[in-house]
Amino acid sequence: MKGIVLAGGVGTRLYPMTKALSKQLLPVWDKPLIYYPITTLMLAGVRDILLVATPQHCRLFEELLGDGSQWGISIRYAVQGKPTGLPEAFVIGREFIGNDRVALVLGDNIFFGHGFPNDLARAAGQERGATIFAYHVKDPERYGVVELEADGRVLSIEEKPSRPRSPWAITGLYFFDADVADAAASLQPSARGETEITDLIKLYWQKDLLQVQLLGRGLAWLDTGTPDALQAAAAFIQALEERQGLKVACPEEIAFRLGFIDAAQLLRITDGHQGSAYGRYVRELLRLPS
Ligand code: TTP
Repeated sequence: MKGIVLAGGVGTRLYPMTKALSKQLLPVWDKPLIYYPITTLMLAGVRDILLVATPQHCRLFEELLGDGSQWGISIRYAVQGKPTGLPEAFVIGREFIGNDRVALVLGDNIFFGHGFPNDLARAAGQERGATIFAYHVKDPERYGVVELEADGRVLSIEEKPSRPRSPWAITGLYFFDADVADAAASLQPSARGETEITDLIKLYWQKDLLQVQLLGRGLAWLDTGTPDALQAAAAFIQALEERQGLKVACPEEIAFRLGFIDAAQLLRITDGHQGSAYGRYVRELLRLPS
């Protein structure tokens, strides 16, 4: 299974923080935002990743993340000239996807919670069709919204409806089969000039190839699009990490625990980084029972 992280966008709501820097390079407590979606893919077992960024920022991501080999994964890079819609990720990534299934995660989405790796495994295990995740929110009008029957059947899918029919927002994590590149290329831009991921999802729904997994209240799906949301996400991660002494979304730890890298590789990464609490944490992992 392949993975795409869509980390372009303009970040207008975070201006001036995003004037020179990509939103996804901003910190969320002790690590760059981009670490969170990347580790989401790693937890889904994805080791082959394409990161899509703006021409302005692509090089900075490469500097931060390299080719991924330090975490036992592969990261390649592609450019999106203009933010013309989420489905464009699959058009840009067509060759990268080839005949494989693919997970897309938005570069500014944070997922955390008990049982999440199981949800991911279920979606990753599905051979055909698409899986999306829905999350109960108080402001569904800001998102794509899915309405469901009690038996889980999808009744409607709407993009940013002014009168939402349900509180279930479609999150920025999607699993698709290899047909997705063709399906994405067939989409027309909506009235706001972007192709819409909800239109892509509808194509799968119409063919009865759509699964919707509901994420329960034990799970956090955090937004980072505004200063308030970014600050709230950082405070949430800080509170968890300081209470437990365990880190959220630490790629080194996940790579080590999942066996993507061994102790010698982990030791190499930490060389020279013990000046930071993050670096010391990674070094300490060698002493923990895995
Ligand atoms: P948005 O939050 O919709 O857009 P943005 O990041 O540019 O922020 P703002 O609304 O403040 O201008 O995007 C959600 C995520 O998807 C974000 O990580 C950027 C990414 N994205 C792309 O990479 N390309 C695109 O064409 C779009 C629409 C979004």
